[in-house]
Amino acid sequence: MKAYRASILHLLDDPTKTTEGAVAFHKDGLLLVEDGRIVGCGEYEELSPWLGKAELEDLSGHLITPGFVDTHIHFPQVDIIAAHGKQLLDWLEQHTFPAEAAFADPAHAEAAATFFLDELLRNGTTTALVFGSVHKVSVEALFAEALTRDMRLIAGKALMDRNAPEGLTDTVEESRADMLALIEAWHGKGRLGYAVTPRFAISCSDAQLTMAGEVVAQHPDVWMQTHLSENLYEIKETARLFPKAKDYLDVYDGFGLLRPRSVFAHCVHLKGDAFRRMAAKGGAVAFCPTSNLFLGSGLFPLEEACSHGVKVGMGTDVGAGTTFSILHTLGEAYKVGQLRGDALDPFHALYLATLGGARALDLGDKIGNLEPGKEADFVVLDLAATPLLKRRLAAARTLEDKVFALTVLGDDRVVARTYLAGVERWRRG
Ligand code: GUN
Ligand code: ZN
Repeated sequence: MKAYRASILHLLDDPTKTTEGAVAFHKDGLLLVEDGRIVGCGEYEELSPWLGKAELEDLSGHLITPGFVDTHIHFPQVDIIAAHGKQLLDWLEQHTFPAEAAFADPAHAEAAATFFLDELLRNGTTTALVFGSVHKVSVEALFAEALTRDMRLIAGKALMDRNAPEGLTDTVEESRADMLALIEAWHGKGRLGYAVTPRFAISCSDAQLTMAGEVVAQHPDVWMQTHLSENLYEIKETARLFPKAKDYLDVYDGFGLLRPRSVFAHCVHLKGDAFRRMAAKGGAVAFCPTSNLFLGSGLFPLEEACSHGVKVGMGTDVGAGTTFSILHTLGEAYKVGQLRGDALDPFHALYLATLGGARALDLGDKIGNLEPGKEADFVVLDLAATPLLKRRLAAARTLEDKVFALTVLGDDRVVARTYLAGVERWRRG
């Protein structure tokens, strides 16, 4: 057994839905880990009798939190992060598709997978739901690398059989065969999971979406990820391509793709009725503030989505998103809220980045906080990582204020260590 002494902060529930008890904080805390799982988490004083059995590491002065959950990110877009000038549809054509074409090459995909997972861990992200490119090999490279790290990672090959350049499209039967082979080889192996991944309605024919719906119906425990209602031109084009659908969400719903374990990135322009339908069918939203600002897509109505009971997690959406850091993403989420007149509560923010994200992925029983029995995915944060952060946190009078400043000022520099299933997989410096 291993024991870590530090301040510990985690969320036991959604702090906006319960009046008390959602936030657990131990100023002088102890975390006990055995066989990849949390076996104890609480006050040092109370748990110290266990120390006889454990190897203790004193991290006093640091803060332990659950690892962060990134509910939406693109593996083959690492090389086009920060590409200038365009909104979604032009950005895809000019920057994204050419970069993704390179992932047909297994050697390129393998090298990028190592970089990509290193970068997630460096930023304290321990679970991610990831888009691959259209190529099966891109997802194989990513899964192989994640398996060696025992990471809880879900990914899928992008489905796109139209409105994409040559060399970057698949066909319905090819992609069905690729998906079934990937599910067979990787889904449930270690902590990996497969996600059926229609890129978005514009890039999928009716036949492709029908096939995607058949595969999730045959494999109810796989995930489904796609993009929804991100950009006004995209929404218009989708309505033109699917004239019979009631709205954009109804396109996916009509093909059986709105269900628990379905995660829809963006949803910037969704309104009450669509949020109600999404909540009723168990779908979740990935809120990607840096991407929505970067591509000029709009301001996600977080409070409205939450008020209808929709599950929401945070997404970086690299490479339209501008950071791998979920902490930094929370700071940007706050600013989006300010532009809408809604100030995101700091504990709600931390919930979205951890347990909320886990619940959006239907993994709330396995990860997301540090309750005994959960998988030991956690981070050690250095609250004095920068001179400014050190000074600002010293001046903070409440825990809430500290957490808030951490989300606004913090990023990868704050992450001193990242643990996956109880094993240290990243250490700064
Ligand atoms: N919609 C379809 N594909 C993409 C993508 O790669 N990034 C974003 N942000 N939106 C998309
Ligand atoms: Zn995306």
